[in-house]
Amino acid sequence: MEALKNKFITIKSRIEDEPQEFMFEIKTQTILGLLEPESNDVIVKCLYISIDPAQINRMKKQSSSQTSVAQASEITPGMWNIPLTVTGKCNGETWVVTEYTIVKGGNMLWKLEAMEFPLSYHISVIGTSGLIAYGGFFQICRPKKGEKVFVSAAAGSVANLVGQYAKLFGCYVVGCAGTKEKGDLLKGKLKFDDAFNYKEETDLISTLRRYFPNGIDIYFDNVGGDMLEAVVANMNTYGRVAVYGAISDYTNLGKRATLNMIDVIYKRIIIKGFLSTDFSLNEIKDFMSTTTNYVCVGKLCVLENISYGIEIIPYAFIGLFQWRNVGKKIVQIAEE
Ligand SMILES: NC(=O)c1ccc[n+]([C@@H]2O[C@H](COP(=O)([O-])OP(=O)(O)OC[C@H]3O[C@@H](n4cnc5c(N)ncnc54)[C@H](OP(=O)(O)O)[C@@H]3O)[C@@H](O)[C@H]2O)c1
Repeated sequence: MEALKNKFITIKSRIEDEPQEFMFEIKTQTILGLLEPESNDVIVKCLYISIDPAQINRMKKQSSSQTSVAQASEITPGMWNIPLTVTGKCNGETWVVTEYTIVKGGNMLWKLEAMEFPLSYHISVIGTSGLIAYGGFFQICRPKKGEKVFVSAAAGSVANLVGQYAKLFGCYVVGCAGTKEKGDLLKGKLKFDDAFNYKEETDLISTLRRYFPNGIDIYFDNVGGDMLEAVVANMNTYGRVAVYGAISDYTNLGKRATLNMIDVIYKRIIIKGFLSTDFSLNEIKDFMSTTTNYVCVGKLCVLENISYGIEIIPYAFIGLFQWRNVGKKIVQIAEE
């Protein structure tokens, strides 16, 4: 019998609005009674933690995310929030883990299954964000070449990939982001057709009319709120809105998008929410092979932003709501 220490970050109490560092704490617990040779359990050593804004919904007293999928279940203050759900895709998970090492495994079958996922580093960075971007864009938005696509939080983890997939497919793509530097990145390195800083705009309906004089065909929504309202006003007939995130609502309980439903009806707009778990194995395989190819030939740019050490996690997480991150936010917490 062997004992290991498990270090983890938890919340001190429920978080209903802006997260702040003092609301989190780091704890250590001893894991007792580790694996016997015939055990079906494995212990996963996390190497990298993916920092995701949607986790805020798990920290609230109540959110519809908590009853939708196991990965979004409620986090109990003060506890190690169990735990290491090793899914078919073999992502160990405290928050969400994109890389893993099995340090103890009782049953060889588990080891083999886990090792079936030989991801290159860059593909594992793109990981779930890429699947959401790829699946959401192609399966939900059903693009046609030449269509006009708008993406919000466009320098973020999911959205920068949506814009890149849309450009590679042959669409006209405009993104919005919260700083001039992010806008420059979108138009430069990521080759978006155009970009703007939404914080400098006072009338989002007019802003979008300026960037899309002939209307928007597809909107990939990561933020909800005012931007979603303005998009619906600028949407073309048979427009599609893929709703994956609503970050502007997460920490502002008083604000929700109020859509003009007459627009939705008469323009026959489809608005569809979705989760990364909605995609089939075939769609995942398609995403993996296309993306691997794009990354290998240098057509798809991987934006990652890494911080180091478990202690930095609260600061890194809060940064998502303070517009500090560009691309996929990751914290490396251990060496292989
Ligand atoms: N449904 C799910 O299960 C699930 C899972 C994962 C992610 N998501 C959602 O997908 C969206 C994108 O996630 P991600 O991981 O790619 O995050 P991300 O875009 O990398 O990071 C969040 C970005 O959102 C923008 N932002 C922050 N507060 C905002 C506000 N009040 N209004 C407008 N924009 C704001 C900031 O960019 P700017 O500086 O450009 O404003 C920030 O960098 C999020 O809404 C996330 O919750 C959903």
